[in-house]
Amino acid sequence: MDQTPTTEPSPQGEGPGTATVAAADHEAPRTTANTKAVLSVENLKMYFPVKSSGLIRRTIGHVQAVDGISFQLPTGGSLGLVGESGCGKSTTGRLVTRLYEPTAGKIEFEGRDIANVSARSLKPLRREIQMIFQDPYTSLNPRHSVGAIIGAPLAIHNILPKNKILPRVQELLEIVGLNPEHYNRYPHEFSGGQRQRIGIARALTLQPKVLVADEPVSALDVSIQAQVVNLLQSLQREFDIAFLFIAHDLAIVRHFCPEIAVMYLGKIVEIADRETLYSRPHHPYTQALLSAVPDVKQAAIGGRRERIRLEGDVPSPINPPSGCRFRTRCSLAQEICARAEPPLLQIGKRHKVACHFPGELGHHPEKPITPRLLGVDDTGAPDPGAAPAAEVGNDPGFSDTWFDLERRSMAKA
Ligand SMILES: Nc1ncnc2c1ncn2[C@@H]1O[C@H](COP(=O)(O)OP(=O)(O)O)[C@@H](O)[C@H]1O
Ligand code: SF4
Ligand SMILES: [Mg+2]
Repeated sequence: MDQTPTTEPSPQGEGPGTATVAAADHEAPRTTANTKAVLSVENLKMYFPVKSSGLIRRTIGHVQAVDGISFQLPTGGSLGLVGESGCGKSTTGRLVTRLYEPTAGKIEFEGRDIANVSARSLKPLRREIQMIFQDPYTSLNPRHSVGAIIGAPLAIHNILPKNKILPRVQELLEIVGLNPEHYNRYPHEFSGGQRQRIGIARALTLQPKVLVADEPVSALDVSIQAQVVNLLQSLQREFDIAFLFIAHDLAIVRHFCPEIAVMYLGKIVEIADRETLYSRPHHPYTQALLSAVPDVKQAAIGGRRERIRLEGDVPSPINPPSGCRFRTRCSLAQEICARAEPPLLQIGKRHKVACHFPGELGHHPEKPITPRLLGVDDTGAPDPGAAPAAEVGNDPGFSDTWFDLERRSMAKA
């Protein structure tokens, strides 16, 4: 048997092997009054217990990996989830695929809350929501042939009679641009990009409605990343699959996702349509992330930006900073930022931001915009004269009314 990795295929319709992804923006559906959300997540939390060492292992704290996030994924659409390493992206992916049971919150799949369903009810759900993992080297069992790997879900779920499994496996190999005759080869006989294609074929086996792609190209050679992203895009169009596309860098998701959420330390800090997020980001963290995109990828995010240095590391999610979690690294931070948590406030038709001083780069307001909403004064101290704090920030979707930054009041579309 041929032991050397076969060369990367160039299936029809794929671009050249460069880091630049498809030239035209991908127009996947967005949630509107007419398109329903296939997945709707509300105030989702995942706290991992931290145990003491020794014989009696007591819980001495919690890793607040995901701490109250809300978002929607439109049917057949795609949402990007971006942020530095450790901010809770993979945990979010594992929650919506129900590999983890959340500490709190709702995960509605086609209108049904699946956050706490029983193991028995999870089995049919596994068909509908699948995951593609970051590392194609460790996510495939080296002792199983590719045919066994891709065909396993069909056997487990009793979907096809035994004699129909091989033809379906071969069909899937062809769909992902691999040679259908290679079903009896083993993962080590394939290159990195090809292994990721095998992972994609396995995720497609059960014809899911939602695919969580957790940094599906980060482990791949830059020259192969674009090919795999293009493959995912064509699969989305062909099979109408909704994607939650996780990435640590804003360049990769730009063409794939019409809407993007930016996460920091377990929270969504900004979520917006592509045009707004790349041209008029309002959160200092998004602005810093965009400026940190490497030069070779600047074209992919719409041009070169002034460099903003992010000081220090992401703080520990076991003991996150009070108020705004970004404040220890934010050059705009003021007193209110330590005292009050900024709600994820809708400030445009499809734009939400969690900051007391939201604004375009260089145009952040001098006074916080949130006190009246939170019932505090400009320093974040409780203000007895203020209206009681309104509950804002947990609505998964976008509303017809939002907070107008110019007028400092609610506006309608
Ligand atoms: N199973 C786990 N047990 C304890 N802590 C975890 C577990 N999984 C992730 N974490 C912690 O939760 C935080 C978020 O992790 P993760 O979701 O993997 O972030 P990302 O994918 O954005 O890099 C990190 O601090 C990580 O160490
Ligand atoms: S709330 Fe304050 S600390 Fe947080 S991002 Fe805005 S300005 Fe910076
Ligand atoms: Mg991760």
